[in-house]
Amino acid sequence: MRPKITPFFLLAVVPAAILLALTAFTLIRTLPQEDLKGKYTYKDFETALKCRSCHPGIYEQWSQAMMSQAYTHHWDEIEYFELAVPHAEVNPSLKGPVDGCNGCHAPLAFMGGTLPPPRPEEKSMANESVSCEVCHLTQRAQTDPPFNFSYYIVPGQTKYSGRLPEIESPAHKIVQSDFHRTTEFCGNCHNEQNPYGIWVKSTQMEWKEGPYAAEGVRCQDCHMPKGGPYQLALMGKTVDDARLHLFHGAHDPGKVRGTIEVRIEPDIRLAEPGESIVFTVALFNQKTGHKFPTGSVEDRIAWLDVEATDAKGNKYHLNVDKKGFEGEEYTISGDYLAYQDMGIPLKIKDFKGVQRDGIPFGNRIFRMPYFDEQGNMTIMQWNTFSQGVDYRIGPRETKVEKFTFRIPYEAAPGEMTVHAVLNYQLLVKPVADYLKVPSDESAILVVNDHSTKVEILP
Ligand code: HEC
Ligand code: HEC
Ligand code: HEC
Ligand code: HEC
Ligand code: HEC
Repeated sequence: MRPKITPFFLLAVVPAAILLALTAFTLIRTLPQEDLKGKYTYKDFETALKCRSCHPGIYEQWSQAMMSQAYTHHWDEIEYFELAVPHAEVNPSLKGPVDGCNGCHAPLAFMGGTLPPPRPEEKSMANESVSCEVCHLTQRAQTDPPFNFSYYIVPGQTKYSGRLPEIESPAHKIVQSDFHRTTEFCGNCHNEQNPYGIWVKSTQMEWKEGPYAAEGVRCQDCHMPKGGPYQLALMGKTVDDARLHLFHGAHDPGKVRGTIEVRIEPDIRLAEPGESIVFTVALFNQKTGHKFPTGSVEDRIAWLDVEATDAKGNKYHLNVDKKGFEGEEYTISGDYLAYQDMGIPLKIKDFKGVQRDGIPFGNRIFRMPYFDEQGNMTIMQWNTFSQGVDYRIGPRETKVEKFTFRIPYEAAPGEMTVHAVLNYQLLVKPVADYLKVPSDESAILVVNDHSTKVEILP
């Protein structure tokens, strides 16, 4: 039987259906960049190896940078395949956001492959990670601020670049693009909002609020410094101001080293056992254009460790003085369990978590904690429901910490050296150990150190 088109149907059902369709449409189409999912095929893009045949120097620089390994790097593979993908299987509403990991880590797979993409060992185009094509086909940002792979991209033989070539390339056309000289270009992937609407990455926005934006010093100036003489392409021009594709960041110990300057001084130079000396440590961020740490803040831990050594070589650990701000307990290391939400994708019932910090107790930590819905700390940024106190060191900011140290009665008379060191780990060690992430990801990087001396009276 065919349904009759009655006046009721025309006046009530049709408008209601249209309204419903419209709401569903706006709910699904919240971000223009979601349209990129599956829009193209792998064949629409060229591999970086092809670019290499004429741009060998830039290729070799890029191939040593993390952006060429954004899909294949061990920790990325572990977090994506052992936590994120299984989490979306348990909770299907996460399928979109977890597919979205690839929007930044494996854009070619996001635009033209299957999701989840094949594992790195299967060597699909997902392994291209953030390749030449991803950046040089990008024309603009689709949102303001740029975030969550908001790049507008059209595959083809027209590449976009900050510089207009003087020699025509036999392989492609070049369109000069001022957009490539902006920080919004990087912000397309270096700002990220998760399904709860939390900014889980905000490097470009941190930059924008800081002193370097006002001075016009952009991401490219520190991560793609100008250098030469350098040949831009085989048979191409040699220039003195080539944009080197170094993209060195937290995985380059040399880039991290010296980022923060550390100075320590005592309030008095002479003390008897039982007396207290107050040591003041100043930490000045001289190098980063954003906060330190930035980016994957949920994984990172930077901590200040202060230790005294007396004339006989006995060592004493100094605890940081509390300042009394809200949430301070997350900035002083101690014996706490955290990261219980890893139990969901790992399918461990009532997972009790692992140690929160994995460093000596009583140290000051420079971090911003991410919390899940239950209020436990999490490294699963997509599962972040709220963030705690932001105790990171801003660009050109100086943090001052005090350590009140009561000289122990057993301390040997004579010279006592007090050493302050700022350490950095890309991934908190208890999590790295638990998930069997290769140890380079949790190796201790020394950012900086300084020492001072006091005299202990007999
Ligand atoms: C057959 C050689 C060849 C291949 C292959 C090639 N290029 Fe080029 N490319 C050139 C030449 C030549 C220039 C101009 C260099 C100059 O200005 O001196 C150039 C210029 C560029 C520029 C502009 C920079 C400038 O010099 O002003 C970009 C960006 C670029 N290429 C990207 C790529 C990308 C991405 C690929 C791979 C998809 C690629 N190229 C593949 C030869 C090539
Ligand atoms: C004034 C120089 C400077 C500018 C400008 C700058 N950076 Fe950095 N950046 C650094 C230094 C130094 C480090 C290494 C220390 C660290 O890991 O934070 C770094 C680290 C990073 C890291 C790794 C951070 C981590 O802890 O994992 C990323 C990602 C990054 N920068 C992206 C950007 C982006 C995107 C911009 C522009 C919005 C930018 N940077 C602007 C100096 C700069
Ligand atoms: C993360 C994004 C990104 C990736 C990946 C990337 N580039 Fe670039 N590239 C840029 C930006 C941004 C500029 C322009 C910087 C400026 O003009 O300030 C640039 C400039 C260039 C230039 C011109 C250099 C100059 O001094 O003007 C060439 C040539 C080039 N890229 C080739 C490549 C090749 C080949 C690859 C892959 C091996 C590659 N790029 C990967 C972002 C990228
Ligand atoms: C298409 C997305 C995308 C764009 C555009 C992009 N990045 Fe990245 N970038 C990434 C991803 C993903 C990573 C993380 C790599 C990994 O898995 O460790 C990353 C990592 C980095 C790092 C960290 C390296 C380290 O040693 O830890 C730096 C520095 C960086 N990017 C700088 C830049 C700069 C500067 C620009 C703009 C010129 C830019 N990126 C544009 C996606 C992007
Ligand atoms: C908006 C772009 C974007 C999205 C979406 C995104 N990431 Fe990232 N991811 C980045 C950037 C940029 C970095 C590098 C930040 C830094 O160096 O501190 C990064 C870093 C990481 C790292 C740390 C790499 C390292 O070696 O330290 C892991 C692991 C990671 N992402 C996994 C994921 C997973 C899993 C998802 C999806 C749930 C995801 N990412 C979604 C941009 C993105």
